[in-house]
Amino acid sequence: MTEGPGTPAHDQAVVPVRLRPEILALPAYRQGQAAPSGFKLSSNENPYEPLPGVLEAVDAATRQLHRYPNAAAPEITERLAAEWGVEPDEVIVAAGSVALLIQFTMAAAGHGDEVVFSWRSFEVYPWMTVLPGATAVPVPNTPDHRHDLDAMAAAVTDRTRLVIVCSPNNPTSTVVTKAEFEAFMAKLPSDLLVILDEAYAEFVTDADAVDGRELVRRYPNLVILRTFSKAYGLAGLRIGYGIGPAAVLAAARTTIVPLSLTDQAQVAALASLDRGEELAERVADISARRDAVWAALGEHGWDDVPRPHGNFIWFPVGEHTARALEVLRENGIVARAYPPDGVRVSIGEEESVEKLLYASEQMITEVK
Ligand SMILES: Cc1ncc(COP(=O)(O)O)c(C=O)c1O
Repeated sequence: MTEGPGTPAHDQAVVPVRLRPEILALPAYRQGQAAPSGFKLSSNENPYEPLPGVLEAVDAATRQLHRYPNAAAPEITERLAAEWGVEPDEVIVAAGSVALLIQFTMAAAGHGDEVVFSWRSFEVYPWMTVLPGATAVPVPNTPDHRHDLDAMAAAVTDRTRLVIVCSPNNPTSTVVTKAEFEAFMAKLPSDLLVILDEAYAEFVTDADAVDGRELVRRYPNLVILRTFSKAYGLAGLRIGYGIGPAAVLAAARTTIVPLSLTDQAQVAALASLDRGEELAERVADISARRDAVWAALGEHGWDDVPRPHGNFIWFPVGEHTARALEVLRENGIVARAYPPDGVRVSIGEEESVEKLLYASEQMITEVK
């Protein structure tokens, strides 16, 4: 899924019933743009089709559509528990990691409470904070588009109930290092919930980057979020998961939209986990393409594009964001604009690379 507010969807003057003003004022949720023609590189999707075996598994599950799903998801939960070396009650599975973000926010923060996150980051963070009536505390990224963890720690007060670290960060594609993350955790109270959102973890090749797998059971207040939407290419089915302390996950289970996790999503995730080798090949392919694109951009003079670690690249073009998006579109690339900061382009099909590089050469003459 992607993400992002548009203009407020409601005219408060014409809503015929009394609703919460902060919800009415909230911009409607909006997806990355579709691409009627050209390459859709606006939603950080995987260019590969589902892994072998996935469609067959989904097809079989679809024959049971007249039944409710088994939303307790025992099989995938046990499988993930085995993969992560934890107990099943230390795993929570839901209809996308965005559902989990909302569930944890609902469980942790209410009116008067604060949620701290880096900004710019995933568009959902400020949006989901409003749902339970909490207050967003966005902390500006460093000039090189990374989390400013010192400033984030300093922004924590006794009203803070949730802190989110996103690595690789959407949309800037930068990472937090292991050492930075450890130092950050040491500064926070151990009863403050921290979410490490690792939606793009599989694409990371930098050995210094934080890795949730090494943090399992290290902290009583840490939940690690992962998703099958990106590397596993199951964005359309909606399934993500969290690893963390059983009691914290139990609280988040109570805030779920019941029965929202489908059987199709569960069997597709299981079938995908059976194809670890193919998955690794695909991920390596996308990561290598990303690195080659970034190197070529550097040669073209893009010296301020941060080294990317997710399956996407950040162009910090500031006030030129609209024009940059247009140049990309003219060249058959549908990207995502984050005015007034920049443009994010996902790494897509091999055939999209030439167009992207051609467009970026034109862009640099116009916007730099
Ligand atoms: C940083 C981040 N977290 C979470 C998600 C949600 O992913 P999903 O709900 O598809 O699992 C996304 C999707 O764009 C993301 O960019």
